[in-house]
Amino acid sequence: MPSTAIILAAGKGTRMKSRHPKVMHRLLDRPLAWWAVRSARQAGMERIVLVVGSGAQEVRDYFAADGDADASIEFVEQKERLGTGHAVRCVRDALGELKGPVVVMYADMPLVHPQTIRSLVSEARAKHNACTVLSMTPPDPSDYGRVDASDDGTVRAIIEHEDCTPEQREALRECNSGLYCFCGRRLFANIDRITNDNAQGEYYLTDMVGIYVGMGEPVSVVHADDYHELLGVNSRSQLAVAAKVMQRRINEGLMAEGVSMLDPEQVWVGAEVRVGQDTTLLPQTFLWGRTIVGSDCTIGPNSRLTNATVGDRCLVDETIIVDSAIDNDVSCGPRAYLRGGAHFHDRSKAGTHVELKGTEVGVGSKVPHLSYLGDARLGSGVNIGGGTITCNYDGKHKSRTEIGDHVFIGSDVMLVAPVTIGDNALVGAASCITKDVPAGALSLERSRQLTQRGWADAYWKRLEEED
Ligand code: UD1
Ligand code: CA
Repeated sequence: MPSTAIILAAGKGTRMKSRHPKVMHRLLDRPLAWWAVRSARQAGMERIVLVVGSGAQEVRDYFAADGDADASIEFVEQKERLGTGHAVRCVRDALGELKGPVVVMYADMPLVHPQTIRSLVSEARAKHNACTVLSMTPPDPSDYGRVDASDDGTVRAIIEHEDCTPEQREALRECNSGLYCFCGRRLFANIDRITNDNAQGEYYLTDMVGIYVGMGEPVSVVHADDYHELLGVNSRSQLAVAAKVMQRRINEGLMAEGVSMLDPEQVWVGAEVRVGQDTTLLPQTFLWGRTIVGSDCTIGPNSRLTNATVGDRCLVDETIIVDSAIDNDVSCGPRAYLRGGAHFHDRSKAGTHVELKGTEVGVGSKVPHLSYLGDARLGSGVNIGGGTITCNYDGKHKSRTEIGDHVFIGSDVMLVAPVTIGDNALVGAASCITKDVPAGALSLERSRQLTQRGWADAYWKRLEEED
């Protein structure tokens, strides 16, 4: 029987005080909903159903833009937010009655380990449970539903915080984590039994526990020792706490694999990033998206790499790299900006205050100071003088600049694209190059220098005499 994860993501998240749906708020580089989907997928769930409602389009757009990996998510729209039980009913109305194990989880629980989901499913299977609930005992139980159990430990019901008497709020410390494994057949056969007769006037999914207990269906509560992975995010403050937990988890994992961090509290790495051995990450470094860093590199301080590919033995100092690649032994910065498919081959260099967009830089070529190169290709062994720019945009079109091998471009040169500089050519400083330069040529475009001996001395003298 195929397993399904139903991830509830329709709530508005009033406590976030936001115009965006709660599940689109970022934890590190990814929205909350993405983390829930990832946990479910890594736990081996075959179908993933995301219930969306508030800001549904924003959620759908995000997953559509994220590429093929997420095309398998089935979306169900919950038009009115009548509670977590109602959300599951909407799934039934949209997709029919699902059979097999149905894991229900909330999209605002980004820290769940896939293994936790897997063991919940095994427990449910072994006991033929109608419902298996994961519980926890966080230090502050407010915000959570409470597990009401009799003295011998058998569960009676889950009571929402709002519906608890003051005594129950005090006495019941075991909380509902919001992660369940249901038997699909029994869930959909009985979901209509949930009513909205409670403090919030909502259809609570948690009522299924009491309903099953009343029917004599087997239900068990599994207690998680570590509540941290089950923290729910309802406010921005809780989002920051969850991000801290995830940051530490990822950084500990990297350090265990041989990555150094001068101060792990000041390094932020997304879930899909890979970093090689003996690489050092310095403070204020952000590695986001599908970034891959090789070994023996030093990244940071003050660097942000998004969807970047970095080879081995690279230095990336105060640099931003977005959707771009550097091969081996490349040095960048301080203060370089590589974007839009820039590609630096082995032993090349992007120096200080340089911006490179969609530009390929050949083996051993250098762009050391204050340059902008866009839509260009540089061969190997090229040197670009300080202040050189490609004029690649005429206000409407982008044009290309082609630079051959072993070209020397002097300082402050404008290369007005489209233009080609042949191999071994030399372009004099301060030239504005509008025509192609053949291989092996010198090209110079500047007015002749005027020098008058003694002129300045005479000028200063005249000014003095006037006083
Ligand atoms: C819920 C549980 C509570 C548990 C806590 C764990 C219920 C009734 N209560 O409370 O027992 O301790 O989570 O974090 O289930 N959602 C929808 N549609 C709706 C309402 C909510 O999709 O109509 C989604 C939300 O987007 C959210 C999730 O369900 O991702 C949980 O909703 P939320 O309002 O945050 O529930 P809690 O009050 O935290
Ligand atoms: Ca000039």
